[in-house]
Amino acid sequence: MPALVVLGAQLGYEGKGKAVDLLSQEAHAVIRCQGGDNAGHTVITDKGTFKLHLVPSGILWPNVWCFLGNGCVVDPWELVTELGSLRARGVDVSYFRVSALAHVVMPWHRELDRLGDGVGMATKLGTTGRGIGPCYADKMLRRGLRMADLLEPDLDLKLARLHALKSAEIDMFQPRASVVLPPPGKLADALRLLGGELRDFIADTDAMARKFANAGEDILLEGAQGTMLDIDFGTYPYVTSSSTTAAGAFAGSGLPPRELAGVIGVAKAYVTRVGEGPMPSEMPAPLADTVRQRGMEFGVTTGRPRRCGWFDAPQAKYACEVNGIDGIILTKLDVLTGMGPIKVVTSYEFDNDGRDDLPARLYGSPKLTPIYTEVPGWDEDIAGVRDWSKLPDNARRYVELLQRLVGVEIVLVATGPHRDDIIDR
Ligand code: IMP
Repeated sequence: MPALVVLGAQLGYEGKGKAVDLLSQEAHAVIRCQGGDNAGHTVITDKGTFKLHLVPSGILWPNVWCFLGNGCVVDPWELVTELGSLRARGVDVSYFRVSALAHVVMPWHRELDRLGDGVGMATKLGTTGRGIGPCYADKMLRRGLRMADLLEPDLDLKLARLHALKSAEIDMFQPRASVVLPPPGKLADALRLLGGELRDFIADTDAMARKFANAGEDILLEGAQGTMLDIDFGTYPYVTSSSTTAAGAFAGSGLPPRELAGVIGVAKAYVTRVGEGPMPSEMPAPLADTVRQRGMEFGVTTGRPRRCGWFDAPQAKYACEVNGIDGIILTKLDVLTGMGPIKVVTSYEFDNDGRDDLPARLYGSPKLTPIYTEVPGWDEDIAGVRDWSKLPDNARRYVELLQRLVGVEIVLVATGPHRDDIIDR
C-alpha cells in the first residue's frame, strides 16, 4: 500500500508546498491529481525561493518522478515557461511528466473565466482567472483538448471547430467583444510548437504510476487547493471546479484506491481565504492586516491579499472526516507569535442549537454563529524552532488544544518558511 495522499484541510494555501516538499524526498514519485495553475506553492531551499504553479514541488529533490496527473488541467504556455525557469536555475526536470489525458487550458478558457465570473449569480466568485472552471466544463461536455492532442496530426481540424464555438460563446458574454482570440491557424501553430517542446514529457502517467505501485514504490498524491474548495464538499458555489478531497486523488492519478496507505491533512495555525465565499472566523481588519503581513498572506498565483481568520476547529474536523485524515501537518505557528490572546472556533450555534459538526452547506449561513475560546498567546520568538520541548508552554498548549478539538494527531509543526523549519512530534 504505497500511496500517501497529502491535501489541504482548510480553504487552500495551507502551506502544502512545504509539506509535499518535505515528504517527497522519501518518495519515488509525486503526482498532482487536480487543478491547474490556479494553485501556487512557495518552497524555500538552499538554492533560494521557488514559486511553482504547475510542476509538483517534489521536482526540487533529485531523482523523484513528478507527474501532473490526468485530473489536472494544464496551460501549456505556462508549463513551458515554468519548466524553462526551473531549468535556468539548475533544476533537473528530466523526471517530470504530464499525463497525455490531462486537459489543455486554452486562451478562450481564460477569457471565459474572466467574462463569466459571477454571471447568473448574486456575486462574483473571485476566481484566479486562469481558465480553470471553463476548462473543466469543456472536459465534462466532452469537447476539450487533451495533452495528447498536441501531438496529433488532426490538431488543426479539432481546433478550427472549437475556435468557432468558443468565439460564439465569448460573443454571448460580450457582443462587440474587445476580446480577440488568435486565429485558429495561428493557435494551431503555437500549440504544435508547444507540443514539440513538451513531447518528451507527455506520457501515460497513470500506467507509470500503477507500475510503480506494483513494484511497491512509495507514491505521494498531492492535492491542490483545499477541502472547503472541493466542488462537492466545499462551500459551493465558492469553490474550485475539481475534487480536492482524498477520493479525487485516485480519479486524478489513475491509481486504484486500494493503494492508499494514509491521508495527511495540511492545516495552518489560523485560516486564510482568497476570493469570495464564507469564512465565519474572519478576523477584524487591523488584526487581519497584522497576520497578513507577518504570514506574507498574498496569493502566489494572483498576488491578491488573503483574508485571514482564526483556526476553525469544526471546519478542520469536517475536513478530517471527509478525507479520512490520519495525521495533520500544522503550518505557520510562528506567525501567531506576539499576537496576544488567540481565539479558536470550538463549535457553532445554529438557530440557538450548539453543534460541533459543520455540514459545508451551512458553512457561512447567517444563522450560524461561531463560538470561540480564547487562550493566552506567547511572545518568545519561535521562528525556526525544530524541537517540541523548545517551544514556549503556551505555544505547545495551543497545538495540543487544536489536536484535542479536531480529534486527529498533529504530527508535524512548521515554525518558519525554510524547508527545515519543522518540528517532528
Ligand atoms: P478557480 O479555481 O480559479 O476557479 O477559483 C475558484 C475559487 O478557488 C476562488 O475563490 C479562488 O481564489 C480559489 N482558489 C483556486 N485555487 C486556489 C489555491 O490554490 N489556493 C487557494 N484558493 C484557491
